[in-house]
Amino acid sequence: MKLESLLLIPKKGPVVAIDGPAGTGKSSATKRLAERLGFVHVDTGALYRAIAYALLSEKGWLEQGVAELSPDDELRAVEISKTSELRFERNPKKNPANRIFQNGKDITSFIRTPEVSMAASKVSAVPGVRKALYGLQRTMGGQGKTILEGRDIGTVIFPDADVKFFLTASVEERAKRRLAEFEASGADAPSFEEVKRQITERDQGDMSRAVAPLKKAHDAVELDTSRYTLDEVVDWMEKEIRSRLKT
Ligand code: DC
Repeated sequence: MKLESLLLIPKKGPVVAIDGPAGTGKSSATKRLAERLGFVHVDTGALYRAIAYALLSEKGWLEQGVAELSPDDELRAVEISKTSELRFERNPKKNPANRIFQNGKDITSFIRTPEVSMAASKVSAVPGVRKALYGLQRTMGGQGKTILEGRDIGTVIFPDADVKFFLTASVEERAKRRLAEFEASGADAPSFEEVKRQITERDQGDMSRAVAPLKKAHDAVELDTSRYTLDEVVDWMEKEIRSRLKT
């Protein structure tokens, strides 16, 4: 099916699109906004992470990651994207956070490592992978009141979103936030310079890929979150959403 015809999958309720590079506060802001507004949160990055995780697992590369994908790896990533059954489970009583399942297995706790992050950026540049996940995102996001976070939500997946945001932040600020996350999780933290290098490398990959590169939609509201707390960002976004959706 052509992408243009998939756009005809109608959305059954308001859609909020939140795009921007890693570490800008997208995930935390989206989570809180979904709770406050009673919207379903769709973390589209987790889908690319799931494909990357499956590929790394198969190859035995979970520890070392992958610097470049060979043409065979790319074909395999497309195959995995087409054949994986991916779903989110949102049961606040059972699981406070969204869980992601791939072919029935809960992979939530395996997909946030630096190796999977980098591999997710690589597989997300493969056009066949993006195409395979397109309909799923459109379907998940079209089910009612939804808020989606990603890189191409406002430009490609939901150009017809009701409200669009593009979040940015300086590389230094984003590296600081990543390090704080490492510390909070108790995991071994890389150096500040290493985190900065990884962020810059991932940005370059995400922004320079040929298909659906990370960029601001012409009608998105841009916010540099560097100088604001998460609460300030969420308060401002909530106001903006409520005024645009008249809720
Ligand atoms: O948001 P995240 O860091 O979990 O995303 C992981 C990778 O997936 C990121 O490097 C880019 C890619 N991605 C994408 O290309 N398009 C999306 N809509 C979401 C994520």
